[in-house]
Amino acid sequence: MRSFNGKPLSPDNDKTLNEAINSSTDPFGGNVTIRLKEFNLKGGYKPSTYGMIKGATNFFLLGIGSDEASALSAGYRFEKVVLKATEIGLGTCWIAATFKGTDFDRGEVWRNGEALKIICPVGIPEKQRMLEKFGRMALGSNKRKPFEQLFFTDDFKEPLNPHSHFGEPLEMLRLAPSSTNSQPWRALVSGNTVHFYYKPKSPASVLDCGIGMCHFYLTEEYLGRKGEFFKTDSAPNPPDNWKYLYSFRETE
Ligand SMILES: Cc1cc2nc3c(=O)[nH]c(=O)nc-3n(C[C@H](O)[C@H](O)[C@H](O)COP(=O)(O)O)c2cc1C
Repeated sequence: MRSFNGKPLSPDNDKTLNEAINSSTDPFGGNVTIRLKEFNLKGGYKPSTYGMIKGATNFFLLGIGSDEASALSAGYRFEKVVLKATEIGLGTCWIAATFKGTDFDRGEVWRNGEALKIICPVGIPEKQRMLEKFGRMALGSNKRKPFEQLFFTDDFKEPLNPHSHFGEPLEMLRLAPSSTNSQPWRALVSGNTVHFYYKPKSPASVLDCGIGMCHFYLTEEYLGRKGEFFKTDSAPNPPDNWKYLYSFRETE
């Protein structure tokens, strides 16, 4: 959502979101700090998104370390907060590009190695403006790549059957948001293990994968399954220039 009603969050919603921030964990061990901040738009301090976002007074600010683990942690941990906001009827929009050079983090102190890399407005959504509709259309925001182009089995020789065991968690990953809707995630299923890869598309591709893997894991949990993420040297070599990222093994 890129258009909001101009009103600050209610104290209840503010509390719920701060609780979501504080309880959000991830399995990758990276550095990420998430803050929820209200901006007084009548004061001199105007955070700018160059017109991309209208009527938002509350923004999440994400300070993220510069390594792979931090990008994964940021995507995974903050997507849980975004899903909580969605659950309580609020709109959000991950923003990595259209705030660069503005002073969102004036006065903020970030932990060692972190830098403000993502902002995200949050509030009551308003009717979409024309600009927003065109923006979404230009990015192809409503379109996701078909399942069979992303997920494979049998050493990448066969597209994965969407009705197979990991079909539903991977379908939820497929629907996740990504920077410029680039959907860099790829996966190979081998028995009770899913190997995650990505096709580098933007500086945020690894972070995008953290978002997708969050959707994957939450769906596994929803289905009553248990498992863990791990790194291995023996993941099958991917085609093209895809890069190996992480694996997930189901244990129950
Ligand atoms: C990491 C990340 C960075 C993004 N950066 C921007 C951005 O700078 N500007 C923008 O308009 N949309 C950006 N988006 C896209 C929107 O947040 C949103 O995901 C997209 O419009 C698709 O929305 P949908 O999931 O409702 O289809 C970004 C998304 C992600 C995941």
